[in-house]
Parts: sequence; C-alpha cells; structure tokens
Amino acid sequence: MAIATRILRPDAAGLAAAAAIWRAGGLVALPTETVYGLGADARNDLAVARIFEAKGRPRFNPLIVHVTDAGAARALVAWPEAAERLATAFWPGPLTLVLPLREGAGVSPLVTAGLGTLAVRVPAHEVARGALAAFGGPVAAPSANPSGRISPTTAAHVLAGLSGRIEAVIDGGPCAVGVESSIVGLWGAPVLLRPGGVPQEALEAALGAPMAVAEAGDRLTAPGQMASHYAPGARVRLDALRAAPGEAMLGFGAVAGDLSLSPSGDLREAAANLFHHLHALDATGVRGIAVAPIPEVGLGRAINDRLRRAAAPRG
Ligand code: TXA
Ligand code: MG
Repeated sequence: MAIATRILRPDAAGLAAAAAIWRAGGLVALPTETVYGLGADARNDLAVARIFEAKGRPRFNPLIVHVTDAGAARALVAWPEAAERLATAFWPGPLTLVLPLREGAGVSPLVTAGLGTLAVRVPAHEVARGALAAFGGPVAAPSANPSGRISPTTAAHVLAGLSGRIEAVIDGGPCAVGVESSIVGLWGAPVLLRPGGVPQEALEAALGAPMAVAEAGDRLTAPGQMASHYAPGARVRLDALRAAPGEAMLGFGAVAGDLSLSPSGDLREAAANLFHHLHALDATGVRGIAVAPIPEVGLGRAINDRLRRAAAPRG
C-alpha cells in the first residue's frame, strides 16, 4: 500500500500544500531547527495513528505538539510561572515543555498516550513556522525516522526511511541544531527529562534555580513510563471472546462488544479508538473490561503493548 511521497518546496505553495495534506488527515515531514519531524493534525485520531504506523513504533510513546507561539501552547496546557520563564527565554527554539493538559484541549489521546500531560514546543525554523501558520492548528510530530533508527536532519534522510509511507516531506535543507529539543517536565518541580538543544545551565539560569535531572532509570517515574500507568479503574482482561459477568466487552473485527475498536478489523481505526473506548467503558463503572484478541502485526503491536500495560497488576 505504498503511496507516492511528494517533495514540497519551502515556498508559499509548498507550505499551503502541506497544510492541505494535514487538514485531510495526511502525514507531512517538516524541517525544524533540531531534526525533521513527522507531522500530523494533533486533533485527528486517525492521522495520529498513522504516525505510529509509518514509524513502525512498537508502542504509543507520547508525542510533542508543535505550535506557532506561546499563546497557542497556553490554549492546550496549564501555564505555571516556570513555563512563562522558559518560553520567554527559549521560544521559538529547541525546547519542549511537558505540562498538565487542559480539559477540552481537543488533542487526540494518542498524542499524550492517554496521559494527563502534554509536550509542547514552538520551533524556530522558518519553514516549520510557515507550515504551522498555514495550517493554523497544533501539529503532533515525533522525529521523522522509522522506529529504532537515528533522527533525520535532511529531507533525503526522511525519504530514505519513510518514502512510500507518508504523503510529503517539505525540503528545508539541513537542520542547524541536529540534536533533539531539550525536554523539561513542569507538572511539578522542573525536571530535565531529555538533554537537548538548550543546555541545562541555560535552562537553570532562566528558572533561577537548579533543576532535577531524570536519569535513565528515573524516567520510570515520569508519567507515561510506568507499566500500569495507563490502567483504567476497571480490571482489563485480554484475548477475550466474550464478557464475563460484571465486565464490559471491547470488540475487534468479528468479535463484537459493547464498543468495538474496529468492526472491520482495521488496526489504524482500532488505534484511533483505543483510548476513547477504554475511557468510555471505564466511565460506565463496570468492574472489568474484556478485550477481544488483536493481531500482533503492524499497529497491533503498539495496541497490544498498551493493553498489556492496562492489564498489568497495579503497583
Ligand atoms: O527536537 C525535537 O524534539 C523533535 C522535533 C521534531 O521537534 N521531536 C522529537 O520527538 O524528538 P520524539 O517523538 O522523537 O521524542 C519525543 C520525546 C519522547 O521521548 C517522549 O517520551 C517525550 O518526548 N514526551 C512526549 N510527551 C511526553 C509527556 N507527556 N511526558 C513525558 N515525556 C513526553
Ligand atoms: Mg525520536
């Protein structure tokens, strides 16, 4: 099912074409000052599911949402004093802030992997800014490489990994910074989650205080990393063909349910529905949720990874 990947020029026509593809739910890779990102409309569940499909990611890691300015970010997340300081000092630029997601922000739960926090960034690259302005909405974008490969810093790198799997790449030349953005968690005391384009010393100078650094092992304490973090209140049982008493049934394909991830057995649709349906069934107050078998191929691997975490014993 290869699609012809277009190479768009970084001019007004190219940016308008990119925006049109995003509006239609397509994928466009775009240059930022750090690395090329694989962008989709952050509000469109199916489009975001396609990011994971194209990258072949075996799990739904949360994604960074790119916006034009701090005002657009504030519409999506809570905005403590520390966010204002860091945004004033480093946006636009290679800094990502993880903040509590605002109720009704409209971002697909696949972007946050069902978390209560959202990563936001205002890129500095002229072409990224132009594309975001032409689109006029939030763009979710992980680095534009297949899962497990290094991040791309040219359009040629993007094409080498993703040609045939995405609608287009905007060729904006090589990326200047070449390493990913620094990521700072601001849901509590500031914590450096990933070192990157803005040095820790500069972040601390802007904050006026030293910050904690998440070690590789420590990251387990960051939201989204814990095995059972995604668990709904109801007990989740996998590979079920029918519900037991007290359970709601989440179907897939031929296995029907109170809700179905995809009646036609389409994994992209199933990924798009996953968090919505888990939340909806959990909200009914059932004791358990029985989930139909999901094939362990393509996006099915990421869906099963998430379901296994939801079913993991609570820590
Ligand atoms: O420079 C960059 O940041 C590039 C360009 C394209 O913007 N993007 C990038 O995205 O590096 P990605 O997906 O390769 O890395 C995003 C990182 C992941 O490690 C993810 O776990 C973390 O951000 N992240 C995203 N949302 C998070 C959240 N709510 N809580 C904790 N970590 C989060
Ligand atoms: Mg990456």
